[in-house]
Amino acid sequence: MKNILESGRVEAFRHALLTWYEAHRRDMPWRQTRDPYAVWISEVMLQQTRVDQVRPYYDRFMSRFPTVGDLGEAPLEEVLKAWEGMGYYARARNLHRAARQVVALHGGRIPDDPAQISALPGVGPYTAAAVLSIAYGRDCPVVDGNVVRVLSRLFHLTDDPAAAAAKKKTAGLAERLLLKGRAGDFNQAMMELGATVCTPRQPDCGGCPVSSLCLALQELPDPSVLPRKQPRKQRPHHHVAAGIVRKGDEMLIVRRPLEGLLGGLWEFPGGISEEEAAREEFLRHELKRKLGIDIRVDRAFAAVRHAFTHFEITLHGYHCTYLRGEARQGDGNDCRWIRSDELEQYAFPRAHHRLIEAMAAAEESPQTTLFP
Ligand code: ADE
Repeated sequence: MKNILESGRVEAFRHALLTWYEAHRRDMPWRQTRDPYAVWISEVMLQQTRVDQVRPYYDRFMSRFPTVGDLGEAPLEEVLKAWEGMGYYARARNLHRAARQVVALHGGRIPDDPAQISALPGVGPYTAAAVLSIAYGRDCPVVDGNVVRVLSRLFHLTDDPAAAAAKKKTAGLAERLLLKGRAGDFNQAMMELGATVCTPRQPDCGGCPVSSLCLALQELPDPSVLPRKQPRKQRPHHHVAAGIVRKGDEMLIVRRPLEGLLGGLWEFPGGISEEEAAREEFLRHELKRKLGIDIRVDRAFAAVRHAFTHFEITLHGYHCTYLRGEARQGDGNDCRWIRSDELEQYAFPRAHHRLIEAMAAAEESPQTTLFP
């Protein structure tokens, strides 16, 4: 069977796709506007986070930082707090830096020029094409994971989609299919189709507006085998110890360096400690070494697992008592003594949040609780 380019059915494809999109598009707060700032925020949030999860974050973020100027002026601390729980915090740090550049270099207007917008921190080909097409109506094709899946099936592409040649091919196909003049709707329709119909595991081919044009559906017993999946590498697992160090009614928190994983977030002090038998000893030494304080480790109260993109951790929480020493900033880290009712003012990584939740429970029952 010929593909839609060879058989001259591109128009039929576009028409079916857009008619379907108009009838089935999900109602999303960012679809009520073409404000480039709002489109930019929503597209960055949507990159690693699902629509349903993004919704409340988007609403809160936009009320707190309604314009690019408000975002640029806000302290990073507040931006991270608004992002807390969505993960991939580099997105928030880059948005903040980019907002400052938009104000300083572009008079507060998100650039509509591909080179200028692509020069902003965190703006890759996907974000640039999404903002340019949706907010400014420019004819830029978007290629994200959903679009790659739709194209792999529509054209029966069997190569590894991560390979350079395959990427070039999908980009070229997206470019040729794009409906010029309606690029924003076309791109969103492709992503929407991938997100709701042409899904990874159980595509709803019966409900697909372009199923009669889909090569994979005609030629394969199961189109969901495409795109070719990468064998998942096993992620390394690390054990991390963290101390809830109490001094009277206060506890110690430290801020992670701005650069790197979870940069700028607050956490309970500690570090990687693989050996269970040595963990309490490690915690005492580590807090002495990094912060200059002596502590007593009282007891373990929780162990929580958390997966990052390339590795997993088990975070072991210990109740500790402060003994002596002036907690000082180490390695550029900030540290503070706070009361438990002040915890909510700081942005913590998810695993540390779960320690906070477990703390209350552990106070009632002294055994270690293991959260899977
Ligand atoms: N995924 C990311 N951005 C999207 C959008 N604008 N519409 C549908 N799915 C998306």
